[in-house]
Amino acid sequence: MRSPLLIALLLGVAAAPAQAEPDIAKGETSFKKCMACHAIGPDAKAKVGPPLNGIVGAKWAHFEGYAYSQDIKDGAAAGKVWDEATLDGYLTNPKVLAPKGKMAFAGIRSEDERKDLIAFLAQFKADGSK
Ligand code: HEC
Repeated sequence: MRSPLLIALLLGVAAAPAQAEPDIAKGETSFKKCMACHAIGPDAKAKVGPPLNGIVGAKWAHFEGYAYSQDIKDGAAAGKVWDEATLDGYLTNPKVLAPKGKMAFAGIRSEDERKDLIAFLAQFKADGSK
């Protein structure tokens, strides 16, 4: 005979959401994938790519003085914004949103990892403070 408790446990597991809350600590670990090209925090400067302070919610080409590709400049001119959904798409595969863009990054397949990373990025204000 099947145990009702076991069935309840199995249903509980099946009904649990993939991930309830993003994990900022995991996001920080994931940001290591970006650090060859991007800095973040109070002393962040442009590297291969622009610094990412205040990026969540910022307009495309948010960092003045950085030589963005035409794709990113066109997005800025069209009023595009790095909201969470747009960032999620860019980090899944940069070439979809910016086919001729210059971010040479393969993308992050795991949705949970992208969520954690975006939550990490979202902590930083435009001046690099949290
Ligand atoms: C190999 C270098 C490299 C890596 C690794 C990289 N990027 Fe980039 N990133 C760039 C470059 C170069 C640009 C400018 C893109 C352009 O002008 O087309 C850019 C642009 C961006 C932008 C747009 C900024 C703006 O001001 O509009 C975001 C957001 C971004 N990167 C996030 C990330 C994140 C998050 C990671 C880590 C998962 C990452 N990048 C990994 C090089 C890189």
